[in-house]
Amino acid sequence: MIVSLSNALAEAERTGTALAAVNVPFFEALLGTIDAAEATGVPVILQHAQVHEGVMPLDDVGPAMVALAQRSSGIFVLHIDHGDDLDYIERGLNLGFNSAMIDGSRLPFEENVARTREVVAMAKARGVDVEGEIGVMTGNENGDPSQGVADASLYTDPAQASDFVRRTGVSALAASFGTVHGLYNQAPSIDYDRIDALREAIGVPLVMHGGSGLTADEYRRCIAHGVRKINYYTYLAKAALEAARTSLADDRTTLFPMLAVAARGAVKTDVTAFVDILSGREGHA
Ligand code: 13P
Repeated sequence: MIVSLSNALAEAERTGTALAAVNVPFFEALLGTIDAAEATGVPVILQHAQVHEGVMPLDDVGPAMVALAQRSSGIFVLHIDHGDDLDYIERGLNLGFNSAMIDGSRLPFEENVARTREVVAMAKARGVDVEGEIGVMTGNENGDPSQGVADASLYTDPAQASDFVRRTGVSALAASFGTVHGLYNQAPSIDYDRIDALREAIGVPLVMHGGSGLTADEYRRCIAHGVRKINYYTYLAKAALEAARTSLADDRTTLFPMLAVAARGAVKTDVTAFVDILSGREGHA
């Protein structure tokens, strides 16, 4: 079943939980995440980021995401993550995605406002919710180990965030408060006071990017402070790799499909554990 981002976020707000927003740029990630959504019964955001075009083009994975989500017993939002431009987001919506992020966070503020407004106008006409971003997060989701350290001078300013939300009409806001994309070079240090101030200022659900690598307690604290969507990719990709490596080491005669089976199982286990923490389902079978 497909549900809207704003309905899923409203339910997360009501229950004091957060939605898992999972990037699935390889097929085992997509299948394993759908398995996790079916096993938990909790809504999951399946998302594809423009930065992953080189790994898996939207035109290839998008139709599979839509078809598999539609036929699944799980509950999904289909979301374009980190869209750079209107054209890319429109391509996703034409494939059946029902939610999108426009990431103008590296643009000067007024240009970010203008580009985000343009996307919100296009998306609203199609009944689609838009996530925007202000504040800069370092790192990337392609395994670049050169960064991985949060820079507090780049954290999102609550007053500017409030202005941004009011002027753009976004339904959710990604902000910078201590996480980074990809692998960490030093342990994350979350600025919980900043989360409180942002939540107070913006009046729409707050989104965490760079969700890999936090402890269960850190996730729970962020959610208690009001984070309602947590983007997640690097650690499921690591889990898939480790499972494939083990499968290869265990049986030198194995063929590639068995690595894919192992990777899918590892993604299911990893994403189920993540969803359990975010939804407060821990302890369930
Ligand atoms: P990680 O790869 O750090 O989990 O972050 C994912 C993300 O924020 C996608 O937008």
